[in-house]
Amino acid sequence: MENRLREVLENKEMLEAILKTIDEGIHVVNKDGITIFYNHVAARLDGLKVEEVIGKHVIDVFPSLDQENSTLLKVIETGQPIINQNQQYTNKNGLKVTAINTTLPIYVQDKLIGAIEIAKDFTRIKELSERLVDLQAKYLSRNNKDDHLQQAKFHFEDIITQNQRVENLKKLAQKAAMSKSTILIEGETGTGKELFVQAIHNYSPRANDPFIAQNCAAMPASLLEGILFGTVKGSFTGAENRPGLFELANNGTLFLDEINSMPIELQAKLLRVLQDGLVRRIGDNVNRQVNVRIIVATNINPLIAVEKGLIRPDLYYRINVIHLHIPPFRERKEDISILTTYFIQTFNYSFQKKVIGVSEEVQKFFYMYDWPGNVRELKHAIEYAMNVMEGDTIQPNHLPIHLQELFHRRQYKNVGELEKSEIRSPWEYDNGLKELLEEIEKDWINRVLEEESGNIMQTAKRLKIPRQTLQYKLGKYF
Ligand SMILES: Nc1ncnc2c1ncn2[C@@H]1O[C@H](COP(=O)(O)OP(=O)(O)OP(=O)(O)O)[C@@H](O)[C@H]1O
Ligand SMILES: [Mg+2]
Repeated sequence: MENRLREVLENKEMLEAILKTIDEGIHVVNKDGITIFYNHVAARLDGLKVEEVIGKHVIDVFPSLDQENSTLLKVIETGQPIINQNQQYTNKNGLKVTAINTTLPIYVQDKLIGAIEIAKDFTRIKELSERLVDLQAKYLSRNNKDDHLQQAKFHFEDIITQNQRVENLKKLAQKAAMSKSTILIEGETGTGKELFVQAIHNYSPRANDPFIAQNCAAMPASLLEGILFGTVKGSFTGAENRPGLFELANNGTLFLDEINSMPIELQAKLLRVLQDGLVRRIGDNVNRQVNVRIIVATNINPLIAVEKGLIRPDLYYRINVIHLHIPPFRERKEDISILTTYFIQTFNYSFQKKVIGVSEEVQKFFYMYDWPGNVRELKHAIEYAMNVMEGDTIQPNHLPIHLQELFHRRQYKNVGELEKSEIRSPWEYDNGLKELLEEIEKDWINRVLEEESGNIMQTAKRLKIPRQTLQYKLGKYF
């Protein structure tokens, strides 16, 4: 019995220690509404001290609350969770707080014993986003068309390529720039999606009208909704009269980046604007007509995003009018040389250097490497090298450390790069071609596995084989 008690106490202490380190406000009450756990983050959000809350009834500590509007008490009463509720309030210290709360009932053996509330603090994010919207509004209202202040700075000439697929995409994008149809741009990180979006805007008849970009990731629906659609004063505590980005981008282009991360409930509202061009500020009772060209981007395949429930199917069909798929850098190796030269020239100019190129070894390595960070990774590698190097040629030891390490490993390992004479002929193996192929397979698996620090999922993904197949092969070879 004593042991059991000690175990329970140890578990409790451990749990409390965990809850204390979490960066979200946590408030737990028992079924009578008495607080039994309250962490420092919750205390900071509420402007209270932990001691003032523990052991007291919620209503005694928060006088503005009653049985009706306290989410914790409501959950105890109904036994139903309340998920992601937007709360805006001024706390005891006069601090304006924006939080997203989730309140869950706690059941033990089917009996309701209390409730837990988890509060995520979005105050700072909200302030910053609103400041950005205000700045955009101020900037646009000055109607400033100075070139150096333009928000979209890239043009089609800035998209450097020798790859036929990318050339074709540029041509298609130029045609699409002329209309108002929605454009969906798909591509891995660093492939040049933003470059395309800006080039399209600048090539379009809207070039002298606003260009606004908004990332849809890492924002709760309620905040993003306010930013995109605007708010009217009094629609919720702390709300101001503020136009949303749709209104600010009127006559111009609105770029919604990482659309696959847009909260699903907001996607329905987006669909409506796409269909009828009407937006309604939160809390308003009038619709406003806007004329905005929408471009969206996704870094994962949009159909997979639909399958995974990240993009609503109806929205997908509505945004997939013109689809530009930018191929990953590793599939257009003919661009390596031209982009290397281009970035060296760019940095020669800004660093006042006279670098002429990369060594043969570096060149070879660039062709072998996979470039998971795509063009951006090449650009950064060259920028790094040009910071640290002396002389006029980029050598392997000027590259960022992770590339140097790979360079040295591959020098000895890359089967594909071995001199022909070093590869034994199939008939020199007991089991002929089969054994040679297995050897090559084993070597590649080993190599990628090492590069991915033993991560099976990543290795399987890069080898383009199912995880189960990889695991089977690992069992067989190693
Ligand atoms: N074809 C290209 N020619 C010249 N520069 C390029 C090209 N493609 C990409 N870049 C450069 O690479 C960097 C990354 O491009 P961009 O920001 O457009 O990528 P992205 O696809 O939007 O990436 P993310 O998904 O990470 O936002 C930028 O500095 C851009 O200028
Ligand atoms: Mg981008």
